[in-house]
Parts: sequence; C-alpha cells; structure tokens
Amino acid sequence: MSHNTFGHLFRVTTWGESHGPALGCVIDGCPPGIAFTPADIQRELDRRRPGKSRFVTQRREPDQVKVLSGFVPSDDGETLTTTGTPISLMIENVDQRSKDYGEIARQFRPGHADYGYFVKYGLRDHRGGGRSSARETAARVAAGAIARKVVPGLVVRGALVAMGEKRIEPANWDWDFVDHRDNPFFTPDPASVAVFSDYLDAVRKAGSSVGAVVEIVAEGVPAGLGAPVYAKLDQDIASAMMSINAVKGVEIGNGFAAAGLTGEENADEMRMGNDGRPRFLSNNAGGVLGGISTGEPVVARFAVKPTSSILTPRRSVDLEGRDVDVVTKGRHDPCVGIRAVPIGEAMLACVIADHYLRHRGQIGG
Ligand SMILES: Cc1cc2nc3c(=O)[nH]c(=O)nc-3n(C[C@H](O)[C@H](O)[C@H](O)COP(=O)(O)O)c2cc1C
Repeated sequence: MSHNTFGHLFRVTTWGESHGPALGCVIDGCPPGIAFTPADIQRELDRRRPGKSRFVTQRREPDQVKVLSGFVPSDDGETLTTTGTPISLMIENVDQRSKDYGEIARQFRPGHADYGYFVKYGLRDHRGGGRSSARETAARVAAGAIARKVVPGLVVRGALVAMGEKRIEPANWDWDFVDHRDNPFFTPDPASVAVFSDYLDAVRKAGSSVGAVVEIVAEGVPAGLGAPVYAKLDQDIASAMMSINAVKGVEIGNGFAAAGLTGEENADEMRMGNDGRPRFLSNNAGGVLGGISTGEPVVARFAVKPTSSILTPRRSVDLEGRDVDVVTKGRHDPCVGIRAVPIGEAMLACVIADHYLRHRGQIGG
C-alpha cells in the first residue's frame, strides 16, 4: 500500500493501524535548530483524544507521544532541538477491542471505507478499519505540532461552526472559548454549547449521527507562499483537508458562497496602509490570490459527513455476496466533526510549513 506520505520539503509519512500495537509518523525535511517539547505535541494530541466527553467515542486512548529521533535534548532534557534528521514520533494503541468489529468484519458498512478498501486490496482488516481508520490522524496531529514551529509567528486555530442543522452565531465568535473546559465541541460561540449538547444528546440516544462544518484559520502566513499553476496554496490546502477521513467538501475564503455574490461584493479592495504596504479591506479570498498567499489570514472550511457507523439497521451486502442488514455496535463518535478540528489545524500547519520551506528554497540572490 503506497501513498502514505504528504508534503514536498516538509514531508510527513504516517504508519500504523488502528488495532496494531502503535502508530506514528516520520517527518523528513524539518529544518535543524527548531526548539520544541514533547508537551507541545501532547497538548495537540490531548485535544484530539477520544473519551473526553459523552459526545465523542468512549475509547480510552491516552495517546501518549514518544519522540524517538531527530533531536538533541537540552541539558535538563526539557527542550528538544531538531537536528534536521528524520523526526520519528510514536503513539501506542492501548484500547483496541477487536471484538467490537466481529459482526461487521464480513459485512460492508454503508458509507464507510470497507467496500472501497476491499475492492482495492482484496482483504479487510477484521480488527477495524486498518489504514482507513481515523486513528491514523493522531499521527498527523503530532506532526502538525512540529509544523507550527517551522514558520515564525504562525498561529493556526480551528473551530466547529455547524453541527447537523445547527449553526453558531458568527457575531459571538470568541477564540478563547474554543478550548474552554466547559466546551466539548470546539465551538467559538458560547451560546451554542447548550444547543449542540441537547441536539447531539438526542442524536446519540437515537443511535444516529450527524455531520459538521469546521473552519480553520492561519494567521501570520507570509505573503508569497504557493505558486500560480500546479502548486497553488489553496489547491494543496484543499487536498490536505480532503485527505481527512469523512471530509466531503472544502472551501477557501467565501468558497461556495462566492458563487452567489457580485464582483463588487466579493473582490477584496485594497488601499495603501500607513506602513507603506498595501492592505486589503476585506478577506473574501481567504488569504490566497492566484494560488499565492497575500499575507491575510488563510481561511479554510470543510464539511464532515455524519459518522457512518450507526445503530440503525442499514441495507448492505457481505463478503459472501448476500444481502444483509448492518447494525454497527461498538464505540463510535456521533459527530466525528468535533475531533476533526485539531486534525484540520494540523493539516493546515503542515501545508503552510511545506510551502514556507519551498518558498525559501526558490528565492534568488
Ligand atoms: C476524528 C475522526 C473519527 C472518526 N471516527 C469514526 C468512527 O468512530 N466510526 C465511523 O464509522 N467513522 C469514523 N470516522 C470516519 C471514517 O473514518 C470515514 O468516514 C471512513 O474512513 C470512510 O471514509 P470517507 O468518509 O472519507 O469516504 C472518523 C473520522 C474522523 C475524522
């Protein structure tokens, strides 16, 4: 199975399965001299970790990261500094219950990766989704914590802006609230917590699931990243976001809404700023023009479909070619969009770090 690597200069290769002993990644191409701590990585993994509230899967994965290579420690061992050699990160799987998958090992869950995986590889990982399990995204989140350090001044934040038919109120947006301990949804709107809680409790109790929309914003992105043709920054962001499990739509800036606007409404006007540099009067483009970053915040949004593993019987077929009704028991997220927030942040950080290094590599004398 090839294609386990993404990025060009900041290259991340992930490895491992949901039900193997461990998973992780190797980051190749990270420049030397970047200081980080295992706690920097752990903080991001803790945000993605399952079992944190009743609204996410009850699997108990501590997701403790081990940094195996690619660094020299400080004298007190607290801080690690990259050496430019491959950085290997490992996370052990401790809460695999393969028996949860017993009944569906020979059936194709409608909406899940089972059928595509089988058609391509001619086998199933009977213990779970194998490489198609979103457990793989823990490795991406770990890599993203390093990527954030590659670009000086880069801040990448994400938030859940819609869940099923419920939306946040943009006027209430408060970034500080996203990681508040009373906020199990990564919502930026404090008033939405009660609404999302009631809604998702009902969905969960019905054995069903719902989708979500996640918005990721990168600030401190230098102008000039990307290229006009086959390495457009927005193109690579779309690819990275679409590579996340269950993501079925990606937009940059105004995205699909731009199609309903006039040229006057959508184009970001410019004026000279007091610092002698041009500034934009709006950011409908989401920080990218002609495939190249403008220096404005890069804004990406993605749609996450409802979890396909649900308790409601669904019509399908099995490996023997029989019609069956599939009921997926086990521990599944009723809204996988919640835990997709730190994953989206990590993917955007990796894309920007990669383009930052590519841009640095092409500057003339
Ligand atoms: C963080 C996260 C957790 C997920 N957990 C589950 C899960 O518990 N059960 C499930 O059926 N799908 C889950 N998914 C979605 C599946 O991995 C995904 O729908 C499946 O691999 C099919 O891929 P596709 O939806 O991209 O076509 C999760 C996705 C993410 C992002």
